[in-house]
Formats: sequence, C-alpha cells, structure tokens
Amino acid sequence: MTSLFDPTRIGNIPLTSRIVMAPLTRNRALEAQVPGPLSVEYYRQRASAGLIIAEATQISPMGQGYLDTPGIHTPEQVAGWRKVTDAVHSEGGHIVLQLWHVGRISHSSLLPDGAAPVSSTSRRPNAMTFTKAGFVDVSAPRALRDDELPGLIDDYRHAARLAMQAGFDGVEVHAANNYLLEQFLRDSVNDRTGPYGGSIANRARLLVEVMQAICAEIGGGHTGVRLSPMTTFSDTARDSDPQALYGYVVEQLAPLALAYLHVIEGETGGEREPEDAATRFDYEALHKRFSGAWMVNNGYTRTSAMAAITAGKADLVAFGRPFISNPDLVRRLRDDAPLNELQADKLYGGGAEGYTDYPTLTV
Ligand code: PHB
Repeated sequence: MTSLFDPTRIGNIPLTSRIVMAPLTRNRALEAQVPGPLSVEYYRQRASAGLIIAEATQISPMGQGYLDTPGIHTPEQVAGWRKVTDAVHSEGGHIVLQLWHVGRISHSSLLPDGAAPVSSTSRRPNAMTFTKAGFVDVSAPRALRDDELPGLIDDYRHAARLAMQAGFDGVEVHAANNYLLEQFLRDSVNDRTGPYGGSIANRARLLVEVMQAICAEIGGGHTGVRLSPMTTFSDTARDSDPQALYGYVVEQLAPLALAYLHVIEGETGGEREPEDAATRFDYEALHKRFSGAWMVNNGYTRTSAMAAITAGKADLVAFGRPFISNPDLVRRLRDDAPLNELQADKLYGGGAEGYTDYPTLTV
C-alpha cells in the first residue's frame, strides 16, 4: 500500500515524499519584486518537503495585485530566485514556481503608470487588496482585447523560461482562486463575446493556450496546474456548471502530459465540504479523467492525508499553513509530533518574525 511518506516521481521531478508545501503569499519581496536573503532562508528551512511550490509570482508587471509579491520577468528576479533554488537543491529538495497573473484583483497604484487592472471583463469585483496605503478596494478593470491575448500568452511562456533559468524544477500555472485565468473560465465573470467568451470551450481557450505555450517551452513533465472549481475567493460567484467546465478543462489538458494537477477542494482556506447538494462537486470524476499525478489541498490533517494516499484518492497532498509554522513538517508528520502554532498576524509582509523564526524539533 502506498504511504504519504513514500518517494515518488511526478513528470520529470523526483520527490522524497508525497508531502507538498503549497504556494503561500508572504509579501516579503525586496525592491523591484526580487526575493531576498530572508526568502532564501525561509525556503531552505522547508527543503525537506517532498516538493515546494514557491509562492505565487507575477509573470509581468501587470500581473501584480498585492504589495511586495515577487516577480519572474526581469534578470534581477531570476538572480534572486536562483539563490532560492540553489539553497533548496543543496538540501536535497525540489521546488517549482507558481506563475501568477491576478487579473482584476489589483489596484492601479501597484501597476505600471497607474494602469487599470486587466481581465476578461470590465466589471469590478467587491474585493480588496493590500497596497502601500493599506487595504483598499480593487480598481475597476479594463477588459482585454482579443488581440492582446497572444502577448499575454507570451508573458506566461517567457516567465516559464525564466523560471527554468532560475533553476526551478518546473512551474505550476495558477488557474485558481479567481485570478486572471479563472476570470476567463467562469461564466459568473467572463462576459465576453468572440473566441474567448460564451461557450465552455471558448472560456477555457486562454488557459489551454497558456498551458500549450508553456509545455512547448519547458515540457509537460515540468509543468503543473492549480484549479479551484468551487471557491468563491475574492467574492466571486461559482460557474453555473463547474462539473462540466472543469471536466472539459481536464480533458483538454490530457494531451500535454502534465506532471500534476493541483486541486483546492471546496473554499480556499475554508470549508472543504459544501453546505448543500447544489454546491457539491465530484472531484473523483475529475481525477478519473487525469493521467498525471493528482495533488489535493485544503485543510488536510496527518490522518486525512494518510488516508487519501492509501485509498488512492490522491498521489500528493499539499499543506499550506502547517508549512508556514513548521519548517520540518515532514518529520513532524512522520513522527506524529506536535505542530507549532501559526502566528496569523505575521503572514503578510514584515521581516523574519513569523517567517524564518519557527522552531524545528531539536531531538
Ligand atoms: C493572497 O495573496 O492572499 C493570495 C494569493 C494567491 C492565492 C490566494 C491568496 O491563490
């Protein structure tokens, strides 16, 4: 029987266990959105994870939506990330980078020349973001023209290339949590006409073309994707038929032979189980359609993670908050040792406190 603690291989990436560090926004990038020495130390401390998915990282200046998140579009950012990947590899770990474009979850003060955020739509969500001035309502977006989408796809391709140059083992495309790619997927947001709006095939087109471009550049064996079929994160309504939408997406991704698919079950950072039958989603039906490694996430515990692996419901389990407060989470889970408590007020921004100062087991 397969165990959570068994090694495995996903695409071209060998892993020491099936325990994954989920991508976690920490807002500690230095000037010019470059990861600094503290981030090197933070990831080095967590290198015993079977796989680290580094925090959501914008693919272009227009992809940024929060203060001090790192980028992967300049040589300085590549050099900063190279120190992170070298540190993780020197400890025997593996690390991929999550490629991010926030779309309409942004504020003009974070964007070049005070530009409006871009999206599938010009409708503003009832959401907030964090800027130099603190928490503010997101700015009204501008709907991208169809003729701008090839350039956007090229930004993803370029970011994937730079991630490999920075020494990452691969990339995870962030198509979850109602950021740009999901703003195209869902009919609750996408109000376009033309080739990228309307039918499921049209709404899925941008994600599929992004995945094709990245896989052509770095190979499917170095590429994963994250989806969140049921989340209402950033006050965004669900699609009218998530089962059909995400089923289609997974079918379209099949020829790319991706390393993995990472699914957030239920509400991001919240309820895994929906309140009523109308909001139930059959994740197993998606899993059956996918041939790569299946990574699950959201509120897993030691017990439920072990059960998911042994039952064959997942190949990998991603942990978020437990990895923030427990750099040696793999060892603690293996030994069934107690976990450090999360300092929830130190998640976003600041320095070493609540970032690199969580203790490891000493004996
Ligand atoms: C956040 O910055 O709060 C954030 C970023 C990416 C996510 C979710 C939350 O997928």
